[in-house]
Amino acid sequence: MIIAVDGPTASGKGTISKELAKYFALPFLDTGLLYRAVGWTVSEQGGDADHAADALAACVFDSSLLDNPGLRSEAVGGLASRVSVHPEVRRALDKRQKDFAYQPAGAVLDGRDIGTVIAPDADVKLFVTASPEARAVRRFEEMKRRGEQVGLEDILAEILQRDERDKNRTTAPLKAAEDADLLDTTNLTIDAAVQQAIAMVNAKISGRRDKDPA
Ligand code: DC
Repeated sequence: MIIAVDGPTASGKGTISKELAKYFALPFLDTGLLYRAVGWTVSEQGGDADHAADALAACVFDSSLLDNPGLRSEAVGGLASRVSVHPEVRRALDKRQKDFAYQPAGAVLDGRDIGTVIAPDADVKLFVTASPEARAVRRFEEMKRRGEQVGLEDILAEILQRDERDKNRTTAPLKAAEDADLLDTTNLTIDAAVQQAIAMVNAKISGRRDKDPA
């Protein structure tokens, strides 16, 4: 079974995906980390994230980089969003994601274009959203816990800018697949959102079994 989870930053899709992977015993890939690794590498190489050739050169990185907690910062998220605009970068990361999605064990992947580009025939597609304000508050709390000092207004501005770039790029923009189920987490606790996501996956699977009782 392939479960595709897409949505904007801080919507809760990362936690939901991880919990779905645990619950359904499936391997999990956070595809945002791949773009973050490219963003990190372009900066390490002194390149320009907005320059396609520099960003493409940064697509060759050691897999151990994916374990670096530095990739999780807001700054690297911004760089990831900028490098992800280039079709060359998306192509370079395409095979790795498709190989993961279509491994025999099945998989859960989260990102922006999993249901539309990476695994368009995924068994279950969830599009996780939340209002920008709710996402900004979550990110603010998360950063406060990590001891980072950033104003709520600045975080909201950064989130809006990232949404704008991710939704409006020409290649594989952030959008819900036509057959995706929407999960709005604005007014849900993380536990409630996870429970709802599990229920949505179960409903989808049993709906399929009813249609195709082979
Ligand atoms: O999910 P995230 O915040 O870690 O992703 C960081 C950036 O990477 C995001 O702003 C856009 C890009 N990205 C993408 O273009 N496609 C994906 N499948 C995952 C992430």
